Amino acid sequence: ENLKDFIHELKGLNNIESLLEDKLNIEKAIIVPGDIEQDPMIKKELGKSAANYLKTIINYDSIIALTGGSTVLEVANGMPQLYSQSNIVVVPARGGLGKEVEKQANTIASVLAKKLGGTYKMLHVPDNLGKEAVKSLLNEPDIKDVVETLKKADILIFGIGRSDVMAERRNLTEETKKFLMERNATAEALGYYFDKEGKVVYATPSIFLTLEDLKFVKNLVAVSGGKNKAQAIVSTCRSGSVKVLVTDEGAAFEILKIV
Ligand code: G3H
Repeated sequence: ENLKDFIHELKGLNNIESLLEDKLNIEKAIIVPGDIEQDPMIKKELGKSAANYLKTIINYDSIIALTGGSTVLEVANGMPQLYSQSNIVVVPARGGLGKEVEKQANTIASVLAKKLGGTYKMLHVPDNLGKEAVKSLLNEPDIKDVVETLKKADILIFGIGRSDVMAERRNLTEETKKFLMERNATAEALGYYFDKEGKVVYATPSIFLTLEDLKFVKNLVAVSGGKNKAQAIVSTCRSGSVKVLVTDEGAAFEILKIV
């Protein structure tokens, strides 16, 4: 840990963090040395660094919401066994997405809950459901319970992706992909697609934690790195849904070229 702090200081990352906070208009930026694109192991460091930060804000009775993705998975993996027993509840902010179970919010919630000695809830909703189906699901007691808990979260941990990459990963229809391109979508986070200015251009029907709800979440922690995600990170910050950003050096320097 001391060595990590030393490298951080040596590279002047403290100054870059302040710059990012300023330019992105966020409360806090944390930068991990390196670039995920060049060294995939950096994603683990990103996860550990986010976990370290979370340790400072998690309460004994926190409600933690989280999304899926490979980066948020590393946050759960990077969390040490913090408590053996607590009143912490971890709840997925999104349903089941894609084919990889390990990276789904449900699975990550269970991993993190165990590290925190808490409990978790599951949200068994496919991502590609239509609006009507989602509406009727909201009347199901199990789903209702999860959604009510979600809206009481004091911490939200989420990943940020490039719009084009996520549209592909989520198997969006050609029509929707075209729509996103025409609207200049650049980022995806929490089921929302944003343009450069952070304006929502498309929302996945199966969103249970809305942008409106985020206003009541005390800690909004985005974890996302890699040079190619720079624009996506900027766009998501401009949408107003980020308070704390944990990123890598690769993305940080690229972001400063944009903003
Ligand atoms: O919404 C964005 C994705 O969750 C990002 O996924 O961390 O695997 O790139 P990733």
